[in-house]
Amino acid sequence: MTSFAFATAGRISFGPGASSELPAVVAGLGSRPFVCTGSNPGRHADLIDRLDGAATFAVSGEPTMDVVRAGAQAARDHGADVVVGLGGGAVLDAAKIVAALVTNAGDPLDYAEVIGAGKPLAVPCLPFVALPTTSGTGSEVTANGVVTSVEHRVKVSLRSPSMLARVAIVDPELTLGCPPAVTAHAGLDALVQCIEPFVSWAANPLVDGFCREGIRRAGSGLRRAYADGSDLAARTDVSLCSLLSGLALANGKLGAAHGIAGPLGGYLGAPHGAITAAVMAAVCEFNLERGDARVRERYAEAAELLTGRRDPDALLAWWRATTAELGVAGLASLGLTADGIETVAQAAANASSTKGNPVPVSASDFAGILRRSL
Ligand SMILES: NC(=O)c1ccc[n+]([C@@H]2O[C@H](COP(=O)([O-])OP(=O)(O)OC[C@H]3O[C@@H](n4cnc5c(N)ncnc54)[C@H](O)[C@@H]3O)[C@@H](O)[C@H]2O)c1
Repeated sequence: MTSFAFATAGRISFGPGASSELPAVVAGLGSRPFVCTGSNPGRHADLIDRLDGAATFAVSGEPTMDVVRAGAQAARDHGADVVVGLGGGAVLDAAKIVAALVTNAGDPLDYAEVIGAGKPLAVPCLPFVALPTTSGTGSEVTANGVVTSVEHRVKVSLRSPSMLARVAIVDPELTLGCPPAVTAHAGLDALVQCIEPFVSWAANPLVDGFCREGIRRAGSGLRRAYADGSDLAARTDVSLCSLLSGLALANGKLGAAHGIAGPLGGYLGAPHGAITAAVMAAVCEFNLERGDARVRERYAEAAELLTGRRDPDALLAWWRATTAELGVAGLASLGLTADGIETVAQAAANASSTKGNPVPVSASDFAGILRRSL
């Protein structure tokens, strides 16, 4: 039976130069914009300076509970009526959560999944405008924001249909300054976000279309964008892959690589994309060992879109060659030791992303995948 639902940002504007729309978009939504940026707001000062009445809030690294608490308070103090996220996935997620907390009283833990009370957001969030400056997360079109609980050493989501951006502006020019390591980690994560929903037991025809084009765009653009960050055509391919990956994960399901990324990201504090890129080959091998003919066929098609050869082994070979070329390290060099494996494996088995994997994955299966990815 084919059945699915689809929800996304109110409007998506994609293309080089699209960010010039920002002042008009924001003016149409409010008069007291609150702009979340990365640690260096000066990087996009020309854009922010064109927003009347704006206050800025800099987010360093991936957001913690304390960061989103402080952001929500600063937004209330400013009298914010529209929130803009202008940065990588970490900034977009922080902005999304701030937009939720300004209108919904209480603490982020009241609404957080897994470790929190998981209460639904009762009041619509402030309007949120998303401008990604990395090509990786697709957060501009997803209905969740990821936040780290330092206390629990885990990353969890706040999630609500009302957290979808009112407008997503995806301008590949904003990604031109990304350093090679960010291009590599974020870009490979976008690719994983296209492959996991494509092989998931919950795949559906609409999401399949996003995944196919996203995988193809990663195949054509990722290595080129890494080799020459000023290559706008390559940046455009990877930005499109990232947007499509967000559409896919928000309307489909992920899998075991993302099941590991939440707990391991919180445990190690390592970049999200570095983790998904490091575990993807072992997850693929595991799924091929345990999966049926459909799983094999899906990986074969993904391989063909990436490499031209319809064979899961071609996907694995591409992954190994590309991660080596892009300098992606194993989990040991991200700080994982044998001591941490059981804890992370148990948490990964309970992670919501794991539920989308095409075959069940137990904690001991995860321990094996983690060992193979060291
Ligand atoms: N909400 C979702 O659907 C979703 C999906 C996937 C990942 N995530 C989250 O997104 C985060 C990862 O996002 P990311 O991969 O974009 O990394 P990031 O946001 O952590 O950014 C990585 C680094 O790149 C820098 N940077 C960003 N844009 C730049 C630019 N244009 N030029 C130079 N430097 C730039 C940042 O300052 C930072 O140091 C994680 O917290 C992850 O949990 C969320």
